Amino acid sequence: MKIGVLGTGGVGQTIAARLADLGHDVMIGTRDPDQSRARTKPDWRGISFADWIAQHSHVQLGTFAETAAHGELLFNCTSGMISLDALALAGADNLADKVLIDVSNPLDYSSGALELSVCNTDSLGEQIQRAFPRLKVVKALNTMNASVMVNPALLPGEHAVFVAGDDTPAKATVTDFLRREFGWRQVIDLGDITGARAVEMLLPLWVRLMPALGTIHFNFAVAR
Ligand SMILES: NC(=O)c1ccc[n+]([C@@H]2O[C@H](COP(=O)([O-])OP(=O)(O)OC[C@H]3O[C@@H](n4cnc5c(N)ncnc54)[C@H](OP(=O)(O)O)[C@@H]3O)[C@@H](O)[C@H]2O)c1
Repeated sequence: MKIGVLGTGGVGQTIAARLADLGHDVMIGTRDPDQSRARTKPDWRGISFADWIAQHSHVQLGTFAETAAHGELLFNCTSGMISLDALALAGADNLADKVLIDVSNPLDYSSGALELSVCNTDSLGEQIQRAFPRLKVVKALNTMNASVMVNPALLPGEHAVFVAGDDTPAKATVTDFLRREFGWRQVIDLGDITGARAVEMLLPLWVRLMPALGTIHFNFAVAR
């Protein structure tokens, strides 16, 4: 399948690598491919984008617009504060009628403390859906670390990934994709795209749990 991963950070890299390893035709998108290829500064994981892309020659690198045009299925893995700008660069025509898995979180650290730039009565998922009405936005995977997103078997037992979106067939496509490609077993449908509020508002809890548990490898489980 042709997949476009918008965003060259750790999340985009992790998703792109996993899907390319699985045999998909993957392009990862950035504002400027030449500048990204020249990024030699290691990130917090100790690897630079220049080294990563050299080691993943089965992942193509393109602009946001080229990547959106390439993908039959798209992932938004851009920084939540600028996701709308990045998607504008991708271009409404390239996004039209595509399914986009929105992994982003509206985390705003500008005050020095963690805040959500949007919450309660709105969400980033909804803002994206409103800005690009022909795009089929499915909020998913934003409530766990990237390594868990693509490999839920990393953690023992049943744990959950949530999906929310207005387009029912798009949500079914994403649910099937998450099960088939990444091996998710517990996919919980939170309804329409307003469900994005609930999962984005889990992030302050996730951020508190990380130091409390001393690891990034954990996830939410729903007992009933
Ligand atoms: N870290 C995790 O495990 C995790 C888990 C769940 C959800 N998330 C969410 O996943 C998303 C990606 O996180 P990340 O840490 O991988 O990457 P990130 O550093 O949050 O975002 C990187 C991407 O944002 C783009 N970008 C930055 N400023 C821009 C601007 N002004 N205009 C257009 N594009 C811009 C960058 O473009 P260039 O390529 O051009 O530099 C890059 O592609 C975030 O929303 C995050 O909250 C992360």
